[in-house]
Amino acid sequence: EKGGYDHFMLKEIYEQPRAILDTYRGRLLADQGIIKMSGIDQNLEKFMNANRIIIVACGTSWHAGLVAEYIFEDLARIPVEVEYASEFRYRNPVITENDVLIAISQSGETADTLAAIKLAKEKGAFVFGVCNVVGSSIARETDAGAYTHAGPEIGVASTKAFTTQITVLTLIALKLAHEKGTFSTSKYHEYLAELESIPAKVEKTLESNELVEHISDIYKDSNNCLYLGRGYNFPVALEGALKLKEISYIHAEGYPAAEMKHGPIALIDEQMPVVVIATKKGHYEKVVSNIQEIKSRSGRIIAIVTEGDKTVKELADHVIEVPETSECLTPLLTTIPLQLLSYHIAVMRDCNVDQPRNLAKSVTVE
Ligand code: F6R
Repeated sequence: EKGGYDHFMLKEIYEQPRAILDTYRGRLLADQGIIKMSGIDQNLEKFMNANRIIIVACGTSWHAGLVAEYIFEDLARIPVEVEYASEFRYRNPVITENDVLIAISQSGETADTLAAIKLAKEKGAFVFGVCNVVGSSIARETDAGAYTHAGPEIGVASTKAFTTQITVLTLIALKLAHEKGTFSTSKYHEYLAELESIPAKVEKTLESNELVEHISDIYKDSNNCLYLGRGYNFPVALEGALKLKEISYIHAEGYPAAEMKHGPIALIDEQMPVVVIATKKGHYEKVVSNIQEIKSRSGRIIAIVTEGDKTVKELADHVIEVPETSECLTPLLTTIPLQLLSYHIAVMRDCNVDQPRNLAKSVTVE
């Protein structure tokens, strides 16, 4: 049932090229320049007239929501707020009939996310679900939705659910951007083609597995780890840190790289591995100067870079390459080595990868 892999988590990491393809299959018609999603098509007015989009979720799904915030604002120019479902529902939020709420949940059973949906519905907002489990409570409670079609995710640590959630949200953002005419038709076609090439690029990224295993062996006994990224890759840093925490029990924190100098830089010494996402587009020079700051304080740097990068290679202790793509799609690639890093470290520490202590696959209690 694990298809020859030692753990479900590894199997699910390797399933991502296929899962992403399944997510956009029948929806992304790149040749025709069409994105077909019935849940959006039937409710287009709601999205086009929305004052703002509120995204609610928990854990890894919340990180996918943060990536979506960058995509929606950057491409579709719609204001977005991303909220932890548990905070949103208890703080008497301002919700109007012109708000669209998007709830993201792999299991579709997360209690706080479900409660946030009910609250938003009571206040008259239109509620859209992005779920993986078909027929789940959240899928049933929402006004409309789009499934991720990632297939069953069994490992407690979410992997393919995350990348397929980002894929669905990217499709929605591109569709709305095109409807609104926020960028040229040629740019739109470029994005569609680029999205279509992502499964092959994820496949290529997975080739770094042996290198990541080697790096994992060097850092497996660390007590702490810092993850840094900017822009689209800031949420990826948060997600990388969560993966390491939950399955290897190493304390890890994710930060926007520029925030480092406002506190976390005090933690840096030769014992501290720092994982930096430093892909070519998106504030590259700024990230390079963050890397220099870490290096001058003897921090150990594991950098995720764009194929062929030379500058970071000279500064970092280790570099892991990902293929080049549009900036907004880089999270789909940069996430992969971070998943592998947490996986290998957890295996080397003899942790129960698929069923980490104290965690459940779906959190149906509040
Ligand atoms: C992390 C993880 C959790 C879930 C969170 C939300 O790897 O699995 O953080 O992402 O419990 O779960 P869903 O997406 O099912 O609502």
